[in-house]
Amino acid sequence: MDVVGQIIGGGVARILIREKSGVKLEMGDLLLVDETGDNSLILQVTDLQYHSQVPQSMRELISGMKLEGLGASLDFMEPELRNYIVAQAKAILQVKDGHSTIPKSLPDFFNSVRHVKEDDLKFLTKPDNPLYVGDVRSGSKILDSKVYVNARDAISHHILIPATTGRGKSNLVKVMLWSLLDLGGFGILVLDPHDEYYGRNEKCLKDHPQSENLVYYSSEAPPGANSLIINLESIKPHHFSGIVSFSEAQNDAVNLAYHKYGKNWIIKILEGVSLPNVKETTLSVLIRKFNTILGIYIDDKGNFQSRNRLFSDTAGESTIKDIIRSLENGKIVVIDTSRLMGSVELLVGSIITGTIFNKYQRYKAENLLREKPVIGIVIEEAPRVLGGDVIATQGHNVYSTIAREGRKFNIGLIGITQLVSLIPKTILANMNTKIILGNEMAQERSEIMASASQDLSDDNRNIASLDKGEAIVSSIFTRFAVPIKTPFFDEFIEDYSNEEKEDKGKMAFI
Ligand SMILES: Nc1ncnc2c1ncn2[C@@H]1O[C@H](COP(=O)(O)OP(=O)(O)O)[C@@H](O)[C@H]1O
Ligand SMILES: [Mg+2]
Repeated sequence: MDVVGQIIGGGVARILIREKSGVKLEMGDLLLVDETGDNSLILQVTDLQYHSQVPQSMRELISGMKLEGLGASLDFMEPELRNYIVAQAKAILQVKDGHSTIPKSLPDFFNSVRHVKEDDLKFLTKPDNPLYVGDVRSGSKILDSKVYVNARDAISHHILIPATTGRGKSNLVKVMLWSLLDLGGFGILVLDPHDEYYGRNEKCLKDHPQSENLVYYSSEAPPGANSLIINLESIKPHHFSGIVSFSEAQNDAVNLAYHKYGKNWIIKILEGVSLPNVKETTLSVLIRKFNTILGIYIDDKGNFQSRNRLFSDTAGESTIKDIIRSLENGKIVVIDTSRLMGSVELLVGSIITGTIFNKYQRYKAENLLREKPVIGIVIEEAPRVLGGDVIATQGHNVYSTIAREGRKFNIGLIGITQLVSLIPKTILANMNTKIILGNEMAQERSEIMASASQDLSDDNRNIASLDKGEAIVSSIFTRFAVPIKTPFFDEFIEDYSNEEKEDKGKMAFI
């Protein structure tokens, strides 16, 4: 056993370990204390501090002499005995006979500790519907132990991925979507404002062996992909709820137009119909809003125009139906929204999500929900729709409705955000799996810790020191907050295809 330290004091939440000289414990390291009778305790380092038997004034004096060239040295004081590092650790798991429980007692005083090894983690079994998120990480060391969450549970109970820009959120989502393509049978809608998931110009999801379960829509579709064209008739007034703010008078006008003209309500408004009890000015403001927000208008010749060619009065009747069908068939639908304005992206998402949400509500009433795949909605910058301010000023939108009620209908969000603090606590509490990547903003970290499923109050420094791709998975479905490293996607898919070849090789010998 390679001893790395020894327990010298502290309490349940803060066990103090003297580091063996030369070991260099790291923040986030997973350590193990072997106790009597196949019983062990897993600890995680939450802080590191210098300790010394030499008084501070003496240390300062000696270092001054050394710096000023007076030749003093600490050597005469047996430095490894008198100067050392004390690690603070918290007990995260008790493992007995291969079963893990939450630790309730302290390990024996002066017990020695060692690094956790793969063998110690055999209790981490692969769940049903295994969705791969990364490998167990001890500090910055990666163990050969894959971490999965049950995709069914995790997605229907919402996943939140908080981190500062550049810490690996998109990379993590790529790895997760790849793993979901492996699994199959999950209807995932990906609103992709950076057009980064399909892999138009590089290797990405389209290169998955089961890419027949991937559907791609873009307003500038490459050959073989689907054009994102939405017929005006697919849009209903409620799709705007909480996405585009209408005044009360405008709302009344919209509902009246829908009541009177049904599917043609938008075109009728654009054409300048008059509606009973609706002021001319209200209608002209609506026309202007449709123009500025959606980029749609009637030109001088009386023809309908859509500036980003997203909307049409003649084409695209089946787009929404096709997308819904793909989702219901358990496919991943990636929508390239990179050429759309933010509010249009949210509206497109709202049309699709609202439609599927209504369908799933019906399925539940008809007892058909069990046969349907779980639906997940991947959305970047989630506070755009889940933000407390947004909801307060514009009312609930379909995304926030799903965050509150989607679980009952097997529809969940996979929300990506830099700013957790903008999302109300009630919604955060509903997002039951959080994959926390690095964050240098102290206020964000405290919001993240406060809303996690495990007590992460000692993990402030850990979260601050997470490198790209390093994360902590905190979920109601895991007994402890699991430290992981998500592989770099480009390398992950290289390894994946090698593994596949190896597997095929093995099969050939059997
Ligand atoms: N798991 C990882 N391992 C190594 N490098 C990574 C990892 N995740 C991301 N990176 C690097 O960081 C860059 C930014 O990652 P990205 O996923 O786009 O961050 P975000 O979406 O959080 O802004 C990537 O281009 C990649 O070079
Ligand atoms: Mg990103």
